Amino acid sequence: MSKNRRVVSAMRPTGCLHLGHYYGVLLDWLKLQEEFDCWFFVADWHALTDNLDTTNLEHYVDEMVIDWLASGVDPDKAVIFVQSAVPSHAELHLLLSMVTPLAWAERCPTFKDKVNNIKKENISYGLLGYPVLQTSDIVLYKGTDVPVGEDQLPHLEISREVVRRFNFLFAPVFPEPKPILSSIPRLLGLDGRKMSKSYDNCIYLSEAPREARKKVMGMFTDPKRLYRKDKGRPHVCNVFSYHSIFEPVNSKEIEKQCLEAGRGCKDCKNELGDIIQKFLTEFQKKRDGFKDKSLIRDILKKGTEKARIEAEHTMREVKKAIRFI
Ligand code: TRP
Ligand code: SF4
Repeated sequence: MSKNRRVVSAMRPTGCLHLGHYYGVLLDWLKLQEEFDCWFFVADWHALTDNLDTTNLEHYVDEMVIDWLASGVDPDKAVIFVQSAVPSHAELHLLLSMVTPLAWAERCPTFKDKVNNIKKENISYGLLGYPVLQTSDIVLYKGTDVPVGEDQLPHLEISREVVRRFNFLFAPVFPEPKPILSSIPRLLGLDGRKMSKSYDNCIYLSEAPREARKKVMGMFTDPKRLYRKDKGRPHVCNVFSYHSIFEPVNSKEIEKQCLEAGRGCKDCKNELGDIIQKFLTEFQKKRDGFKDKSLIRDILKKGTEKARIEAEHTMREVKKAIRFI
C-alpha cells in the first residue's frame, strides 16, 4: 500500500444509490482501497446545502452505507464514517472560510449554476461555502488524492487554491489534493442523459429486479433502426453502451451482429434485462447481509473514532500554525 498517498472521498446522502453510482464511483473506490489508505464518508452536512427536508436523512445515510458495503467497500481496508460525527470538519471549515476570498466561492460554476436555477431565498450562505467545506473534508485528513466526477473538478481547483493560500499565510500544513478521474466509462441514464434522480432515469441498486428489467425493455435504441432488417448503429445506442459496460467481453460480438442486422433490438434488450435483473438479485443478496442496524452502527462508530483522532491531530497543527493558544 502506498503510504504517502491518501485518498479521501464522499457521497451526499440525498437518495438511494443507483447503477450510475456503482459504475461511476463505487467500482473505483474498490480498486483504490486495495492500493491506498482510503477515507470514505457520508457528507451529510453537504446534503443540507440545497435541501432542508431531513425527513429521510437517517434512512438515506444507512442505506448508502449498506450499498457501499454490499459493493465491497471494506471497513478493514478503508475508514468509513459520517461527516457530522466529526465536528472538526466544521471547525476547519470556519477557519478555511477566512482564507477563502469571497470571489473564489462566487466564481464556482456549481454555485453560479444554482444561483441561476433556484429561488434566491433558497440560496444559503452554506451553499456558497460548499467547496470550502469540501476542502476541509479533504485536508482534515491530509488527503492527497480525491476520486471525483468531472462535475467536481472546479471544487477541487478551489481546494488547491485555498490550501496554497493557507500554507503560504501560516505554515505548510496541508498537501495540495489532486483529483483522480474515474477510469470506468460512465453508465448513462435510461434516456441517455446522465443518470440522476432529478431526471427520473435511474435503476436503483435497491429496486425490485423485475421492475428494473421492465425499465430496460422501455429503453430507446438506435432511432434510425425502424425494421429488424435495418442495420443498427451500436455507437448511438444506449442499450449497447450498457452492454459494453456490463459485459465488455460479449459486446464486440453484439456490436458486430448489430452492424450487420444480425440481432433484433428486442432480443438485445431482453438480454440486457436478464443481465441487470441478475446483477440486482445478486447485489441485493449481498445487501441483505448488511441490513443489521447494529452492524452498521458498529462500523460507523469504529470509523468515526479513527477519523476523530486523525482530525484532532491535524487541528492541533492548524491551530499552532495560526498561533491560537
Ligand atoms: N461534493 C461531492 C459530491 O457531491 C461530495 C463530497 C463532499 C466530497 N465532500 C467531499 C467528495 C470530499 C470528495 C471529497 O459528489
Ligand atoms: Fe442497440 Fe442492440 Fe438494437 Fe443494436 S441491436 S440498435 S445495440 S438495441
